[in-house]
Amino acid sequence: MKKIALITGASSGIGKEFALQISKCYQKLDEIWLIARRKERLIQVEEEISIPIKIIESDLTKQEEIQSIKELLYKEQPQIRFLVNCAGFGKVGEVTRMKEEEQLDMIRLNCIALTFLSKECIKYMKSGSHIVNMGSIASFFPVLHFAVYAATKAYVLSFSRALRSEIKRRGISVTTVCPGPVNTDFFHIAEKTGYQAWYKDCFLAQPQKVVEKALDDIKKGRELSIYRGEIRTLRVFAKLFPHRFILWGMEWIENFSKRKNQNNL
Ligand SMILES: NC(=O)c1ccc[n+]([C@@H]2O[C@H](COP(=O)([O-])OP(=O)(O)OC[C@H]3O[C@@H](n4cnc5c(N)ncnc54)[C@H](OP(=O)(O)O)[C@@H]3O)[C@@H](O)[C@H]2O)c1
Repeated sequence: MKKIALITGASSGIGKEFALQISKCYQKLDEIWLIARRKERLIQVEEEISIPIKIIESDLTKQEEIQSIKELLYKEQPQIRFLVNCAGFGKVGEVTRMKEEEQLDMIRLNCIALTFLSKECIKYMKSGSHIVNMGSIASFFPVLHFAVYAATKAYVLSFSRALRSEIKRRGISVTTVCPGPVNTDFFHIAEKTGYQAWYKDCFLAQPQKVVEKALDDIKKGRELSIYRGEIRTLRVFAKLFPHRFILWGMEWIENFSKRKNQNNL
């Protein structure tokens, strides 16, 4: 039985970094399955990895494409040592002004695909296997003008925590990775709406560091992986203060920076 790691969102950013670092740290894997829409980017990732790769070109917002992955798993019957649910995106903007289809795709990819892949992959896991789900600092509080995205990440955290408790007796661990802003293509895509995310440059982390910390936390069996002390402090802040207060603070900062920009014109 082949031992594999299955990584979604492996064509760029944090998912690509997981593929590179897992291939170095877990050389006993027989194969790594890389999933994303951009095949040419996955081929580039394959060239950097010495373990055999299976490239799966798939749009995970489409239920029939998730179904094909299920069928492939059934056909190949691998032993999954790692599932990394990293595919995800966010769009900034006001809920009422955003395109409905983009909002639905955020939910389909960040929540539905992650849920179904987790459920399906557990069938092929043994004691010592790991599920890694990408949350965000936005998992801990609502975010002004990032409402749908933050809600999807709150779902990821809640789902992953409960799943962890359900399957821990089988020796399978679930870790939710909750970074602050990371230097990837994420905000280029998020800001295509024309809205600017003022917080994107606050505590900007490199994907290599986020993944190094995540792999260390996974080895230690931790429930959460949060890179950087400042982001951990923000989480404590979100536990101590009512969320309406946090939203009020975000409104205040946004209005303040708008006024500052107008005065500079
Ligand atoms: N960067 C940040 O500031 C940050 C912070 C906290 C959490 N996160 C989370 O980290 C994860 C990775 O994001 P990133 O920062 O690495 O951004 P990224 O570089 O844009 O990577 C996103 C990945 O998701 C894949 N993807 C997007 N839509 C897809 C679809 N419909 N079907 C299949 N794959 C799809 C992309 O591949 P294709 O385009 O080739 O399909 C890409 O590989 C996301 O879940 C994100 O929410 C990011």
